[in-house]
Amino acid sequence: MTTSSDPRASTPDRYRQFAQVEARGISACYVEWASGVADDPRILALIDRLPASKRHPTLVFSAARFCGAAPASYVEFAGFLSAHWLEVEAVCLTHDTQTNEAGRCATLLPALAALSGPLALIEVGASAGLCLHPDRYSYRYRSDDGSERLLHPARGPSSVVLECSVSGAVPIPPRLPEVVWRAGIDLNPLDVHSAEDVEWLEALIWPEHEDRRLRLRAAIELARRETVEIVRGDLNEQLAALVARAPAHATIVVFHTAVLLYLDDEAKRRFREQLAALPVHWLSNESQGVVPGIAELLSAMAGALPTAASDFVLALDGEPLDFTQPHGRSLHWLET
Ligand SMILES: C[S@@+](CC[C@H](N)C(=O)[O-])C[C@H]1O[C@@H](n2cnc3c(N)ncnc32)[C@H](O)[C@@H]1O
Repeated sequence: MTTSSDPRASTPDRYRQFAQVEARGISACYVEWASGVADDPRILALIDRLPASKRHPTLVFSAARFCGAAPASYVEFAGFLSAHWLEVEAVCLTHDTQTNEAGRCATLLPALAALSGPLALIEVGASAGLCLHPDRYSYRYRSDDGSERLLHPARGPSSVVLECSVSGAVPIPPRLPEVVWRAGIDLNPLDVHSAEDVEWLEALIWPEHEDRRLRLRAAIELARRETVEIVRGDLNEQLAALVARAPAHATIVVFHTAVLLYLDDEAKRRFREQLAALPVHWLSNESQGVVPGIAELLSAMAGALPTAASDFVLALDGEPLDFTQPHGRSLHWLET
């Protein structure tokens, strides 16, 4: 299956796939822009001047918005791109898609809390590290029967409240897990204290998602008070050394969300081999089909149907647990 991240796919195919699957039902503006680009030879010619790895719709759209493009019709967007291409191109060449969505913690939490603690968390592909504070956020889980569960950190309600709709027999924990140590790895860690990095993180949020923008700002405020180390480097190169630094008494959890799509098959294989050899639990939250082996397990599970093609799959130690909305807005627990 083509994905918009696949540099081997043609640019029209990547934009069509983005419109039809990844942005569908999530951003009407990006669906319109991506569909428009896919059929617009003039704009495709501009985008094709970029290296294939830099033609991703999220990168090009975020760069355009970083340069001032308004979330308007495709015609206006295409006009903006034509007039400002050199600026947009420069941003694409110097930036990457590093969306950091604290809301994803709401989908990680039930799995994290089910492990015996205390926990040491290692996030690979951490961006600015906003998913490394799951014990410092408050959570509101809403079930499809209308009931609500509110969870707060041990210290009291957080300034960041993550809202998540749940369906299926989600094991919502009685309390948040105890995290005694945390660290991340990223090729290019973003700095919550840098105005430029924060501006880029805001540009990466899709146009209609004002709630996500507000959450990002609140999570950045929190992260500025709670320093967390993010090691610069490739996850395969840095993982073993970081695991060795985690406290011996803690349960080590290596996790990632929206990261493995950036790895080629060989890098994914190496990552899995390392995980198998290390004393860790592995929690993955990735698009369907991205983690080798998971799609096969899902197809063998009766009734394991995502609510949308864009849903991620959350898996613990390679076993699928639930489907999750890509920005953490909902989760659907699987029957086992
Ligand atoms: C889309 S962001 C997701 C950030 C965060 N996990 C979240 O869900 O909010 C993907 C991140 O993975 C990082 N990344 C991609 N490939 C990597 C690699 N081989 N090693 C380390 N980090 C990587 C990127 O730099 C980027 O910050």
